[in-house]
Amino acid sequence: MTEPNQPWQLIAEWLPANGDPERPQMTLATVSPSGEPDARTVLLSEFDSQGFYFHTDALSRKAASIVANPAVALSFLWPAFTRQLVVQGRAEVAPAAEIAAVYRSRSPYLQQLAWQNTFEFAQLPDEERRASWASFAASHAEGFAQPDNWIGFLVRPSRMTFWTSDPEAASRRTEYRATSGGWTVAHLPG
Ligand SMILES: Cc1cc2nc3c(=O)[nH]c(=O)nc-3n(C[C@H](O)[C@H](O)[C@H](O)COP(=O)(O)O)c2cc1C
Repeated sequence: MTEPNQPWQLIAEWLPANGDPERPQMTLATVSPSGEPDARTVLLSEFDSQGFYFHTDALSRKAASIVANPAVALSFLWPAFTRQLVVQGRAEVAPAAEIAAVYRSRSPYLQQLAWQNTFEFAQLPDEERRASWASFAASHAEGFAQPDNWIGFLVRPSRMTFWTSDPEAASRRTEYRATSGGWTVAHLPG
């Protein structure tokens, strides 16, 4: 059975709208250039009918992994313990305008973090890190420009699996796979 848009309708029901300040967390799994799996939590910045966007440091390990191998997986547990969405797909660099808009929408803390989340900064003792943080904030009272290493990725899904719990029945999954004509759907045990 092929269903053209159904997974995106479900996504819109499951995840908070893009403007909602409460952003879902997702586990982002990647494969390193030497073929080892890796995973970490990132925020879902936004989604649209092309896929899921997250933002990070272009110099990070995850960015290097994606450049070498764009195959990624995402796992959302949202809201806690009642629904799980697992996505398989390929990541590509998001459009520059999208990357810039998300930076502007981030809180001042997260905007500053994009500047100061460096290897050198991580080596400093806590007191020095806090002093450096405060002086950087004071010297940018007018706001933060977008740093050069701020980057965003769009994950275009090839498979999306929705897991739902049911206290009165077994959990189950509804799995959508992308085809040239739309999405195939299958029901699987949880
Ligand atoms: C709740 C939570 C949200 C996070 N959100 C992001 C994010 O949106 N982008 C990001 O680059 N790192 C985020 N991090 C930090 C990453 O988990 C990770 O430690 C960092 O990006 C370095 O990952 P890498 O070395 O695998 O590239 C978040 C961590 C937590 C615990």
